[in-house]
Amino acid sequence: MTGEAVAVAAERRWTIVVGLVIGSIIAVMVFTGLHWAAMPPSRVETVDPRTLHISGEFVENNLGTSVGRDGRVVVRLVAQQYSFHPQCLLVPAGIPVTFRATSADVIHGFNVAGTNANTMLIPGFVATFTTTFREPGERLMPCHEYCGTGHEGMWARVKVLPADEFRDRAGRGERLSCVPR
Ligand code: CUA
Repeated sequence: MTGEAVAVAAERRWTIVVGLVIGSIIAVMVFTGLHWAAMPPSRVETVDPRTLHISGEFVENNLGTSVGRDGRVVVRLVAQQYSFHPQCLLVPAGIPVTFRATSADVIHGFNVAGTNANTMLIPGFVATFTTTFREPGERLMPCHEYCGTGHEGMWARVKVLPADEFRDRAGRGERLSCVPR
């Protein structure tokens, strides 16, 4: 083979390889596009931010931590400029805790310091995630989406109690929080 024929053969091989790569990238784009359009991601829950305080899951006396009959621990909270409600959350250590939260006005978010608990709160949507706090103690929970001039003062506390102490407090089926009364 002449030098030119070798070069042409190499070029052709690379053309085929690159063509296959581009083809498979386009195939993945088309597949995921159609798949997501046909089947939206799960857990998209909407809620009307204008009536949060009037009716439904996020009325004031339903906020805080509850333990269902099946033993599931659920924390419900609302963010608004510039505070979280409740301001202090009570959760158990070593037991999965499900957060359900939303915003009453603009986009907020929070993370619980030193844990993987982290979410955005978008008005109109319910953010949910489940996490387990490993160790008892008190942690800070700052807002982590810039939400206006009061953003840096927007934070709550999370009190992680040993599981048995938490169970004692949760015994009566009320909504729990560590906000002083
Ligand atoms: Cu709320 Cu930043």
